[in-house]
Amino acid sequence: MSLDPQAARALLAFYLEAGADALVGEQPVDRMADAPALPAARGAQSDLDPKPARVSGAVARRLERPAPATAAAATGSAPPPPEVAVMAARQAAGSAKTLDELRALLESFRGCALHATATQLVFADGNPDGRVMFVGEAPGYEEDLSGRPFVGPSGKLLDRMMEAIGLDRASAYIANVIPWRPPGNRTPTPQETAICLPFIRRQIELADPDILVCLGQPSTQTLLGTREGITRTRGRWFKYDTGTREIRALATLHPAYLLRQPLQKRLAWRDFLAVKKALAG
Ligand code: URA
Repeated sequence: MSLDPQAARALLAFYLEAGADALVGEQPVDRMADAPALPAARGAQSDLDPKPARVSGAVARRLERPAPATAAAATGSAPPPPEVAVMAARQAAGSAKTLDELRALLESFRGCALHATATQLVFADGNPDGRVMFVGEAPGYEEDLSGRPFVGPSGKLLDRMMEAIGLDRASAYIANVIPWRPPGNRTPTPQETAICLPFIRRQIELADPDILVCLGQPSTQTLLGTREGITRTRGRWFKYDTGTREIRALATLHPAYLLRQPLQKRLAWRDFLAVKKALAG
C-alpha cells in the first residue's frame, strides 16, 4: 500500500495523538489474523455464521468465568472496574513485606491498564536506604525503554539539582506515583492514579525516608492531598504519614517544568537548599 505524503503525515499525526509514538518492528503485523474466533452468544445464532465458532477448552472456560473479583483483578487479563482494581491494589500493596516483594507484585498486577501499553514497569532507581526520596508523576519515553525513573532530559536536570546539594542516585531514592508510562505521555486518569496510589504509598512506607520530595503538581496533590497549584505549594513543608511514622515532605517544581521555564530554577534551587538544610539539621 502506498500513501501520498499528506495522507501519511495525517496518519502519523493520528498515531501520535493516540499515543503510538515508538517503532516496535520493521514489518507490520496483522493482529486480526491471530484473533481467536469468539463463540456465538448463547442462545443467539448469527445469520452470518450459523455454526458456533470452535474454541479451546481453556478459552471457553475463561469466557464463561464470572466478572473478575478482587483477587482476580490482581492478575487477571481483562482490566477490572476501577473500584475493584483499587481494592486489589490495596490488598496487594499491603501484603508486600519488602520493596522486592512490592516490585514483584506490581510486575504481575493487571488492575491498571497502563501496564498493557507500557514497555515495562518503571519501579525505582537509586538507594532505598537513602534519607531522601523523590517522587515524580509517571515515566516518559526514555524511562519506559530503560525501566528506570528520571533518565531522560528531566532526569538529567534532576541529577544536576541533586548533585548541587550533595545527593546522587547512590544516596537518594527515586520513584513515580504511576509506575508505567501513559501512552504518548498523556496525563494519567484519576482512576489510574487511584489504582497506583496504594503501591507508591507502600513503597514510601517500606523505603522509610526521612524526607519526601514531591516533584511537581500531580505528585504533590496525590501524595500530600493538596488542591492548590504547585506555584502555591512549592517550598512548603508538609507532614507525611508513611503508615508507620510521620516524616517531612516538601513540594517543589518538576524538572520538566524547569526545562520549559528556566527562570523558575531559582525557586527550585531554594527548595533544594531547604532539603539540604533539613538533612543537616
Ligand atoms: N517525569 C516524571 O515525572 N517521572 C519520570 O520518571 C520522568 C519524567
